[in-house]
Amino acid sequence: MKYLVTSALPYANGPIHLGHLAGAYLPADVFVRYLRNMKRDVVYVCGTDEHGVPITINAESRGITPEDVVKENHELIARGFEMAEMSFDIFSGTHNDIEKELSQDFFKRLDKNGFISVRNVEQLYCEHDKMFLPDRYVEGTCPICKDPGARGDQCDKCGNALNSLDLINPKCKICGQTPVRKTSKHWFLDLDKFEKRLDAWLETKENWKSNVQWFERGLEPRGITRDISWGVPVPVEGAEGKVLYVWFDAPIGYIAFTKELFAKRGLDENEWEKWWKGGEDVKLVHFIGKDNIVFHSIIWPAMLMGQEDGWKLPDEIPANEFLNLEGQKISTSRNWAIWVHEFLERFNPDSVRFYLATIAPETKDSDFSFKGFQDANNGMLSAIYGNFVNRNLAFINKFFGGKIEGEIKFSEEDDKMWEDVNRELKEILDCYETFRVRDAAFHIMEIGRIANKYFDTMAPWALRKSDPERCNGVFVNCLNLIDKMATVLEPITPAASRKVKRMLNLPEVFDFTKLCEHNISNGIKLGEVEILFGKIDDETIAAEKSRLGNNH
Ligand code: MF3
Ligand code: ZN
Repeated sequence: MKYLVTSALPYANGPIHLGHLAGAYLPADVFVRYLRNMKRDVVYVCGTDEHGVPITINAESRGITPEDVVKENHELIARGFEMAEMSFDIFSGTHNDIEKELSQDFFKRLDKNGFISVRNVEQLYCEHDKMFLPDRYVEGTCPICKDPGARGDQCDKCGNALNSLDLINPKCKICGQTPVRKTSKHWFLDLDKFEKRLDAWLETKENWKSNVQWFERGLEPRGITRDISWGVPVPVEGAEGKVLYVWFDAPIGYIAFTKELFAKRGLDENEWEKWWKGGEDVKLVHFIGKDNIVFHSIIWPAMLMGQEDGWKLPDEIPANEFLNLEGQKISTSRNWAIWVHEFLERFNPDSVRFYLATIAPETKDSDFSFKGFQDANNGMLSAIYGNFVNRNLAFINKFFGGKIEGEIKFSEEDDKMWEDVNRELKEILDCYETFRVRDAAFHIMEIGRIANKYFDTMAPWALRKSDPERCNGVFVNCLNLIDKMATVLEPITPAASRKVKRMLNLPEVFDFTKLCEHNISNGIKLGEVEILFGKIDDETIAAEKSRLGNNH
């Protein structure tokens, strides 16, 4: 079985914040690391989503080119992901030739297979700027909730998708004038023709978050072209000056990046097809945020079906809910957000990854609070995991010169303890396999509790004199416990896990297929001991809190 894993492509229109990381990235990275540790064949692709209206508006307002905007943000995003140790096999971007060619092929094939129709549609047009105003180029009052800040494609206030023609009192985003109506020719993907197939396919997906509303209303043809110049040119005659809608080319990026990756690896030219057209041998898993569900479970599968060319359909679409911040919705315009590339300069990426794992918004929206972050770091990582590592290694260094030598003795109590631990280990693997990162983190901490309790009950400090062989046995067990914790934590806290392996003088290998075998026995000599997790103090937390909002 091969695994083709993707994370939603972040728009190259700004850096990413912790809400993004918690939704579509960290859970995917944890899953991918788990798969690699299980020795399964996996490819993990991502890259920036580089077309679309927000990027051209951003560029125009700053007097730079869309390419400039994309380059700048691609770098910021890539840096944030690197600091967060996202382990993509490739992190590319959609504005390139492979993407363009594939997207045009997709369009042409849909057309040839009879799934594309052309219509003349009324659009808003600005006489002053001499251009049509697709999507966000127009703002006005929401016809549904009457919020005055609605945009042509959606209202952020009530969350409804809108048609710009329905906006009350529409205004051109560039010059502020009232636009007029004018007809323009556009190409539509006939989603209605896929209704039966999509329905039947979705029936087979038991736990998927539902898109019921969509089917109740009935699927309708959807416009897939736009009157702007930034994007993939529509590959038919009579479409000059028009590009494919960003949502048409973006998911094709998943394929383009796979192709690019295999070319870089020097593999056979057709290798990527074995994955994308690999049928049952491949599991295609798209990690996304809940706002992307419709695209990944309806439109994108329709695009793939409509090729009639053996493309795989998504097998799983783990869709996370949203992350709030200190009880409020994340808002970049109000500066109620934490930027990944900045935050990870100030805090240990592993602490952030771990806390986000414990609050992963898997089944409902969840909340990032600084207090919660501090508690997760100080209470769980430092006091349970770090403390166990430290008290053992410090003791062995102090009294045994960093070595365990001589005879060792095990007892029945050890077997009992390992039984409990092995049960947890099994449970943890199951959590990883089924995208339950949150539960995985809690079960790992359970091992930490078992370990600390074992240490306290065995009291090796007393055994040192009374029963040295038994003392050795207890420490060998404790070191193996440390090794197990570091190993199963690798998907969540990779840097700390590597550190622990070095302290234990073990290779930095995390093999989940051998989780129940013990790597350490007597004769072990420790490596250099370092602190795993420092504490985060109250002042630091207070300073972070005061950064939020506009008043900093
Ligand atoms: N850029 C989109 C967003 O941030 C996600 C695109 S995912 C893809 O919401 F499938 F289109 F690639
Ligand atoms: Zn205008």
